[in-house]
Amino acid sequence: MKRIFSGVQPTGNIHIGNYLGALKQFVELQDDNDCIYCIVDLHSITVPQDPSKLRENILDVAALYLAVGLDPKKTIIFVQSDVPAHSELAWILMCNSYTGELSRMTQYKQKSGGRESVPSGLFAYPVLMAADILLYDTDIVPVGNDQKQHIELTRDIAIRINNAYGETFVVPDGRFLKEGARIMSLDDPTSKMSKSAPNEHSRISLLDEPSKIKKSIMRATTDSEGSIRYDVENKPGISNLLNIYSVFAGIPVEKLEEQYQGKGYGEFKKDLVEIVCESLAPIKGRYNEIRRSPELVDILKDGAERANSIAQKTMERVKERFGLGI
Ligand code: AQP
Repeated sequence: MKRIFSGVQPTGNIHIGNYLGALKQFVELQDDNDCIYCIVDLHSITVPQDPSKLRENILDVAALYLAVGLDPKKTIIFVQSDVPAHSELAWILMCNSYTGELSRMTQYKQKSGGRESVPSGLFAYPVLMAADILLYDTDIVPVGNDQKQHIELTRDIAIRINNAYGETFVVPDGRFLKEGARIMSLDDPTSKMSKSAPNEHSRISLLDEPSKIKKSIMRATTDSEGSIRYDVENKPGISNLLNIYSVFAGIPVEKLEEQYQGKGYGEFKKDLVEIVCESLAPIKGRYNEIRRSPELVDILKDGAERANSIAQKTMERVKERFGLGI
């Protein structure tokens, strides 16, 4: 059994990119592996959050975890800040990472771009992510493509510490899906679909109403050529929609190209609306039920307890290697 670890930020609007790139993998892996899935609330405060809304968002993500099919009997589900060792280990890793490597992180450059003063948490975000992963002796991290660079950094830090202090951490591998690993924005298919993009029609959130899904897909950016063909470079919009269609329907892109030969974008988009609405409806139904249930908090408390006991063992080992404490 491999140890799997991953997380999602409780920043609202969990979208089909988060689902197809990450959550879907979480569910696929839970039967044959030892899985730990976290709601990474400490990461979310690298940008300002409304405290009363953040609590609600945490429970929303937890309910979505269960609604997409995670089973708390098979996996540990918990909230990051309920396990203090994440922050403790992050400090130790911070002392073993360099400003040069952190300033090369693409996500940091994008999120800090144009600002005069940047919170140091935004800069150190990948180190906290490394701590999340290394704390659980993780073998595999299922994530979207946008996290590739952060996984590389985690590996570098683990190897660096292992070399300097003796075998301390398991060196993890990322797991990226072939399709779904990078779902692009509907209004600008050259950038990734994102929770924080200002245009709500740039994404499809898992809890969107069918009317909103229809509007977002029907107005999605395509091109003037009019043929339904997968060509990311010249036709990024239609290629993204083909990709979304393919993963939701379980039909290879080449088959879809054949199926829609000679047909227009309007017809293709109408069918896509139907597929997406049909796929998301059961998730939404389950979500509404789970979100109201008092059991949700119990699941998170139990998860935190189990996560804490694994994390404590790692911290004992780390402190011993570094000569910390008595
Ligand atoms: N567009 C995407 N396509 C595929 N996978 C994606 N992921 C995110 N966007 C896409 C994957 O979803 C998981 C959880 O992401 P996160 O919540 O930790 O934060 P993020 O990557 O920063 O996601 P967003 O949506 O872009 O949020 P904001 O706008 O708040 O920064 C990760 O595995 C990620 O790879």
